[in-house]
Amino acid sequence: MIDKDRMPASVAIIMDGNGRWAAKRKLPRVMGHNAGMNALVEIVRHSSNIGIRHLTVYAFSTENWKRSSEEINGIFSLLVKFVDSKLEELDREHVRVRILGDYRKLPEKSVGRLERMMERTENNTGLQFNICLNYGARDEIRRAAAEIADLASRGEIRGEDVTEELLAAHLYTGKEAVPDPALLIRTSGEMRLSNFLLWQAAYSEMVFTDVLWPDFTPRELERCIEEYQHRDRRFGGR
Ligand code: FPP
Repeated sequence: MIDKDRMPASVAIIMDGNGRWAAKRKLPRVMGHNAGMNALVEIVRHSSNIGIRHLTVYAFSTENWKRSSEEINGIFSLLVKFVDSKLEELDREHVRVRILGDYRKLPEKSVGRLERMMERTENNTGLQFNICLNYGARDEIRRAAAEIADLASRGEIRGEDVTEELLAAHLYTGKEAVPDPALLIRTSGEMRLSNFLLWQAAYSEMVFTDVLWPDFTPRELERCIEEYQHRDRRFGGR
C-alpha cells in the first residue's frame, strides 16, 4: 500500500519500450507509441487521483529526430489525437498542461494543438502535467547559460550573481515552476538518464522497472511509489 501522507510531489517518467512492445507483436513501431499514449492517459488520471502535484514525462527528445520520418510523424500525429480526444477531460479534471522543450520546432499542426491545450488549462489548479517535447537536458542548460550570458553582457549581473537558484530559474522547469522530481521512473529495463532532467535529478530517487511503457499500469506506478517510500532520502546529509 502507498502511504498517502508521503507522496512524491513531483514525479518524472522516461516512457521507454514502445518500440519493443510493438516488435513483440509484429506491429509497426507507431502502434507501440499509440499503446504508449493510452498507458499515459491512465497514468495521468491516476496521478491526479492519488495526489501527485507534478507529473513530467519524456515524450520526444532532441535526439529522437534521428528516427525515421514515418515514426516521428506518427508520434506528432498522436499528439494531435491526444489533444483532440483528451483536452475536455483534462480540463474537467483541473489538470494544467505545460510543454517543456523547444516544441515550436514541431509541425505547425501539433504546435497549434499544444498551444490550445496550454491556453485552455492555464488557470487549472490540479495536477500539473508537463510534457517534454524536443527536450534535451544539455540543450536546456545551454539555453539557460546563453540567457544568463546575455544578462551579463548587458551589465545586469556579474559572475558572482550566478547562483544555483538563478541558473535553475532559467531552465524550462524553472519557468514552469516544476519542482525537482522526488521520484524518477524509467521503464523497459534501461538504466540511464538519456539527457533527461540532468540538473533537476541531482537528488531524485530512481526506480527502474522491466515493464515496457505500454504495459505500465496505475498499479505499477503505485509499486514504484512504494519502492520510493522505502528509500531513505538524505540529500547528502546524515
Ligand atoms: C520510447 O520508446 C518512447 C518514445 C520515444 C515516445 C514516447 C511517446 C509516447 C508515449 C506517446 C506520446 C503521446 C503523448 C500524448 C505525449 P522507444 O520507441 O524508444 O522504445 P524502444 O526502446 O523499445 O525502441
